[in-house]
Amino acid sequence: MQRKDLFDLSDRVIVVTGGLGQIGRQFALEFIDRGAKVAILNRRIPDRAALAEKFPLDSGRVEFFAADITKKESVKAALAGIVEKWGVPHVLVNNAGIDTQPSAPPEVSGPFEDFPEEVWREVLEVNMTGTFICCQVIGGAMAKEGRGSIVNVGSIYGMLSPVQDIYAYKEKKTGKPFIKPVAYCASKSGLYNFTRYLATYWGRKGVRVNILTPSGVWRETQDAEFQANYCARMPIGRMAMEDEYNGAIVFLASDASKYMTGSNLVVDGGWTAW
Ligand SMILES: NC(=O)c1ccc[n+]([C@@H]2O[C@H](COP(=O)([O-])OP(=O)(O)OC[C@H]3O[C@@H](n4cnc5c(N)ncnc54)[C@H](O)[C@@H]3O)[C@@H](O)[C@H]2O)c1
Repeated sequence: MQRKDLFDLSDRVIVVTGGLGQIGRQFALEFIDRGAKVAILNRRIPDRAALAEKFPLDSGRVEFFAADITKKESVKAALAGIVEKWGVPHVLVNNAGIDTQPSAPPEVSGPFEDFPEEVWREVLEVNMTGTFICCQVIGGAMAKEGRGSIVNVGSIYGMLSPVQDIYAYKEKKTGKPFIKPVAYCASKSGLYNFTRYLATYWGRKGVRVNILTPSGVWRETQDAEFQANYCARMPIGRMAMEDEYNGAIVFLASDASKYMTGSNLVVDGGWTAW
């Protein structure tokens, strides 16, 4: 007897917000390889030539929708386009997010007491309200169909406070302190109970809602000092490669996790074990 592939995603319609970014693109490529139809929502969509360098456009399994997730009408328009092309999505990955990098200017990476209110609002707007809107619009459509899987993307900095010592080298270099800001941490933290709320709300409607917790991904543009400090604190001894969350996202998107909802899947090289 042929056993069913638990991780099968063929012909599932999957929305990845922020799918042009570092981790989101890896999610999209993994889903496309597995035969899914992937709709990427991003604020700005580059021209076809630029997209062709990063995605297998000839596969016919990837489409791009210009959408600002903080604007309900924009997400509704994207959903209408997806439904027209492929039908109501089966999976929503709320991956789009904004953060303050160690390269950020002092105005947005200084002491908590001076952290600008408008930046606080902007980060909460994208990371929390954007996720809320996508769940309302796209998750709501999935609930009407009586099926679906939503994966919110959290962060170790939404579970624990950042270790500020990692960033202390910046002050020695620039003379200005770098404090990993509160806004990203608070916004990501809110997603954990948002996930549990929706998991229970849609529990009997067939829509599962889980959260994936990644830790830091290696980027060529990161300072060597930042990478060394981060890795010294990391039990596994290195940062994640950008495709190392793909196994977790396939698990959460597919029927392999069909009895799982309201849960937090931590894939963090052991960061939260200390
Ligand atoms: N990279 C990391 O080290 C890391 C660690 C933990 C968690 N995360 C989380 O993983 C997710 C992806 O991170 P990444 O590093 O790939 O980010 P990234 O900056 O490379 O990509 C984010 C994408 O989201 C898009 N986006 C931002 N605001 C948007 C909006 N209003 N509407 C539509 N699209 C919007 C951006 O254009 C970009 O394409 C984020 O939620 C992030 O917080 C990342």
